[in-house]
Amino acid sequence: MSTNSTQPALGGVAVDQGSVTNERVILLCPYEQRHRVVRNQFITIEDRFTPGLLFLGRIVGGPFFPQENGSGEIRAEVEIQGELVNGMPQGTNNRPAPGSVAQELPAEDVCRMLGLRGDMVLGTLSGRDDLELGLQSTSKDVLPRNIGIFGTVGAGKSNSVQVLVEEASLRGWAVIMLDLEAEYTAMDQPTTQEHLVPRLQRFGLQPRGVADFHVYHPLSCPSDRPDSKAFTLRLADFDSSVTAELLQTTLGERNALLDCIDYYQQKYYTSVRTSDLDRENELLDCSPQAKLPFTVQSLRTRAQERSPRNSESLDYIGLTNKLLLLVHSGAFDQPNVRGLDIKEMLQPGRVNVIDVSAANDLVKNLVTADLLRKAFAYKCVNPDVPPALLVIEEAHSFMSRERVQTMQATLQMLRNVARRGRKRWLSLAFVSQQPGHLPAEIFELCNTRIVHTLRSMHNLDSLMATTGDVTRELWAKCPLLGTGEAIVSTPQYHRSVVAMIRPAASSRRFVR
Ligand SMILES: Nc1ncnc2c1ncn2[C@@H]1O[C@H](COP(=O)(O)OP(=O)(O)O)[C@@H](O)[C@H]1O
Ligand SMILES: [Mg+2]
Repeated sequence: MSTNSTQPALGGVAVDQGSVTNERVILLCPYEQRHRVVRNQFITIEDRFTPGLLFLGRIVGGPFFPQENGSGEIRAEVEIQGELVNGMPQGTNNRPAPGSVAQELPAEDVCRMLGLRGDMVLGTLSGRDDLELGLQSTSKDVLPRNIGIFGTVGAGKSNSVQVLVEEASLRGWAVIMLDLEAEYTAMDQPTTQEHLVPRLQRFGLQPRGVADFHVYHPLSCPSDRPDSKAFTLRLADFDSSVTAELLQTTLGERNALLDCIDYYQQKYYTSVRTSDLDRENELLDCSPQAKLPFTVQSLRTRAQERSPRNSESLDYIGLTNKLLLLVHSGAFDQPNVRGLDIKEMLQPGRVNVIDVSAANDLVKNLVTADLLRKAFAYKCVNPDVPPALLVIEEAHSFMSRERVQTMQATLQMLRNVARRGRKRWLSLAFVSQQPGHLPAEIFELCNTRIVHTLRSMHNLDSLMATTGDVTRELWAKCPLLGTGEAIVSTPQYHRSVVAMIRPAASSRRFVR
């Protein structure tokens, strides 16, 4: 460890007085050292009486001036963050004795000790513009263990998403973003937020669009981008239980749906007879000539034909009406239109935006399910394609705590992709302004969390309950975080920290 031995000591630990706590000590510093006694400075404290006992601390309060300015000692409040063992921080059950001497810790040591270094630079430690932090794009413990980005409206989530996407794509990740509001469809353009350019330059960056950038939309739900490519959803591509859940079928409608699907699948698979691998490849064949067991139109015809047999337990009439919603959306089983082309999308460094801003909730949810299923299937069949990041905006609208009971099949698919995707370098990033509405299990799937300011206790509580490595003290800061600030908790860091995320270099639509 490089200690700055040419410098005089920063100060010494004071005798405990009044109300003391386990994690805090007071430092007394000569007035001449005032310029070094600044908040967020990391320090080491060598215990006065126990040789080799070294504490890691951070100045969190002060400098305070108990005497007339310009004379005497100044005071600073230090949070004890742990003990240093072989240069690395560990938890401690101890505190430094009075008279122990403090020295500041050079920036590179702080980064090394906290594990903050990463090729994907996210920003700086809050209050420490000299301390960059990042995530490692090549570690299986970071992106592949999934990301959660949370925060209230205007807190900086979308900016953080863009930073993550810019950094990941530059490191060879393929990215697919599910864009609910068409805010990411101009990411091939440089940012228009002039006032953020100096901050961008701090990271050696200039306003710059993403190089390999493509927009898609479900047919009949057009994008503002004239060059956006349309794709069709194909009902046969969905797991039938997932279709039933997303259509919010009653039990009778669900039975009727499974019965109609079964009818076509029996016919199809006895004539074609396919293996599991063939079926995966079928799912991934997005050409308009792809052979499919049924379409929304044929399914609806079958349901109509069966309607004379309608009963409470087999509700073909209800099903016909639900399928009509899909037919009317115009997004399903359109002839001569390609399906979602995962193969084309998953190229190294390529960023794909699926613009679903013009689609209704049902179509949005079905696009999400289509994307998850096909990306996972493609990764299973082609293990050598580049690592891939899927960004799911407004995750709570796809899978909410309220609906989770009736969406077990969809949750199971999500769980499967999130868990088993890790081995295949498939990462999910969930973004939500309402984490309180997400099922707890989704948090548990997000091992890296970027938590912007959240003011409602409902939203905070659910995160606190599942993010064990963030201290109460850190959580207490969450409602007070400024725009772009976030608590970052990840298996890569030895401690959770507050970061100031950098501005995106690419453009976002509808920014003020
Ligand atoms: N890291 C940041 N640094 C500077 N400004 C930011 C940062 N993040 C967000 N902002 C500002 O705040 C505005 C809202 O951010 P945004 O990411 O759209 O919030 P959210 O998606 O959480 O609603 C942005 O347009 C930008 O001006
Ligand atoms: Mg946003």
